[in-house]
Amino acid sequence: MKIAVLPGDGIGTEIVAEAVKVLHALDLKFEMEEALVGGAAYEAHGHPLPESTLKLAKESDAILFGAVGDWKYDNLDRPLRPEQAILGLRKSLGLFANFRPAICYEELVGASSLKPELISGLDILIIRELTGDIYFGQPRGRRVATDGHFPGAEEAFDTMRYSRPEIERIAHVAFQAARKRSKKVTSVDKANVLETFQFWKDVVTDVHKEYPDVALDHMYVDNAAMQLVKEPKKFDVVVTGNMFGDILSDEASMLTGSIGMLPSASLNSQNQGLYEPSHGSAPDIAGKGIANPLATILSAAMMLRFSLNQANSADRIETAVKSVLASGLRTVDIWSEGTQKVSTREMGEAVVKALTKTTKG
Ligand code: IPM
Ligand code: MG
Repeated sequence: MKIAVLPGDGIGTEIVAEAVKVLHALDLKFEMEEALVGGAAYEAHGHPLPESTLKLAKESDAILFGAVGDWKYDNLDRPLRPEQAILGLRKSLGLFANFRPAICYEELVGASSLKPELISGLDILIIRELTGDIYFGQPRGRRVATDGHFPGAEEAFDTMRYSRPEIERIAHVAFQAARKRSKKVTSVDKANVLETFQFWKDVVTDVHKEYPDVALDHMYVDNAAMQLVKEPKKFDVVVTGNMFGDILSDEASMLTGSIGMLPSASLNSQNQGLYEPSHGSAPDIAGKGIANPLATILSAAMMLRFSLNQANSADRIETAVKSVLASGLRTVDIWSEGTQKVSTREMGEAVVKALTKTTKG
């Protein structure tokens, strides 16, 4: 089992270090190799996704990824910005299926900005298509307009597009995931306005014929954004395109009040995957030792389950995280009166300790 470890920027290095400790505490043999990515790689090699990093990612079974980005790179040319590293990895490895669970941990129900009864027990799985849509559609660019409201004016454009096989494969992923849960899929589109998303809706409806045991409904994205805060527990599996999925998954993560807790997985058709916390690089708190490593530790658990076939070890990590929360330890982002504030390292070490307990039975 070969794991590429790509900590990236900001708090990335601190949180990934804790997840690596947790992996080492399992009785499994891994080959782990670390490489630079994002702004850190740009500083060292002049590119956010150097050839050597991409090569390592390609030849690994799984990638444990921290986060990339820092405001100080905002003025670089787009191809050199840290975000291009993650987009490049998604594209080069064909990581089309992005799983973003939004789970509300009972101990943290008070951390949400929504009323506890709305989110207690919340368990949504957003499945976001990750290699198509307006993110990657060509053509795109800047030019002088030859038509429209202001011919002769400077303009910019992107292209929203999806092919039938792209929609079919993500629809299959969603229906299969729903079969292991409550057998309900909501497909989110904008079919009332966009040709691309009328097509999306048609193709998802076609694929659904192969899954008569799963319920499917369709929702416009604006309504979905509203329903997510109004009655989030109505949702179970949500499947949508790259752009809408980007927005809705941030919204869903905040329902739980603890974005520092949410892992994610991005898989290709060979189950090779990239695993990263749902939160970003948080440069404002980098190096202070206060970031929450749990989203990354839980991402390592998803990695064991999806790409490395070690469901038992994944369960053990998740149980350890729950027991650490139950014991009252909190990083500052999830701290509340009556709980004990700990650092990034202390939280990682507490998970390692809880893990060791479960081995000893
Ligand atoms: C995400 C992020 C990325 C995206 C950025 C960093 C390119 O927001 O993973 O959701 O837009 O997909
Ligand atoms: Mg995003």
